Amino acid sequence: MVTVAELDRVSVRRGAKLLLDEVDFKVSESERWVVVGPNGAGKTTMLSLLAAQMHPTQGVVSLLGEYLGAVDVFELRPRIGLASSAMAHRIPASEKVRDIIMSASYGMLGRWRESYEAMDQNRAMELMRLMQVGELGDRTYGTLSEGERKRVEIARALMTDPELLLLDEPSAGLDLCGREILVGILGRLCANPYAPTVVLVTHHLEEIPSGITHALLLTDGKVYAQGPVREVITSENVSGAYGIPLEVTRTDDRWSARAFHPARRAQQ
Ligand SMILES: Nc1ncnc2c1ncn2[C@@H]1O[C@H](COP(=O)(O)OP(=O)(O)OP(=O)(O)O)[C@@H](O)[C@H]1O
Ligand SMILES: [Mg+2]
Repeated sequence: MVTVAELDRVSVRRGAKLLLDEVDFKVSESERWVVVGPNGAGKTTMLSLLAAQMHPTQGVVSLLGEYLGAVDVFELRPRIGLASSAMAHRIPASEKVRDIIMSASYGMLGRWRESYEAMDQNRAMELMRLMQVGELGDRTYGTLSEGERKRVEIARALMTDPELLLLDEPSAGLDLCGREILVGILGRLCANPYAPTVVLVTHHLEEIPSGITHALLLTDGKVYAQGPVREVITSENVSGAYGIPLEVTRTDDRWSARAFHPARRAQQ
């Protein structure tokens, strides 16, 4: 299987703080990964490395067959789609949805050409339909709901037809309906064999779409567990990673977690 991304004993240090501590991680072409871990565990740092936005302090990062440090990151970045809150904060409120999505083809944020190629326009329309924002092309970003914004950001991340799609907490801040729409869309994306390799970061097991094949639990900059999702997302592992007793359940391809109460277990 083709390796899309690999971290080999990767550490990231800022001052005295180790953000990532000797992380090994390998993503193959058809895999869809979720990265789960508490606040400050290093998840966003890990995605920044995978997005070629940051270099490691130690260790080797290889992305799409290239070594970070030995490749022009400006050539690499269009091959990687990233949707994150940091990215979203840079989108001007006055920008039109269609332009936010299309300008990704040119590595720009917002409209920068008087006219786009028909191919770009068709691709943007196809992605707006896929992300269920087909009616919003002429609306400005500032007028969208949180759920609509998230879907526009993911459409933008997909615009360059990336080989690797990185999503940092795509459901953060969404209401139940918005979350379920997005988790459904991402579930279908994960199930599509032609879709890019996916690495999705979340805090909440309820936000893991069906179709996720692998999971990595990160805590305090270190890998707590990684492998096939059903082997990794267990009560024991998730409790260990978060440092509190949790009960993890799985129903019809969806996960949930809640605090463990011995009394509840005794009643069952
Ligand atoms: N430049 C920096 N200097 C010092 N510490 C930093 C720097 N950047 C990040 N950190 C710290 O590194 C840790 C990991 O940050 P990161 O954003 O990767 O965590 P995270 O797992 O994404 O957390 P969250 O779930 O809250 O988004 C945090 O404690 C953060 O404060
Ligand atoms: Mg984060």
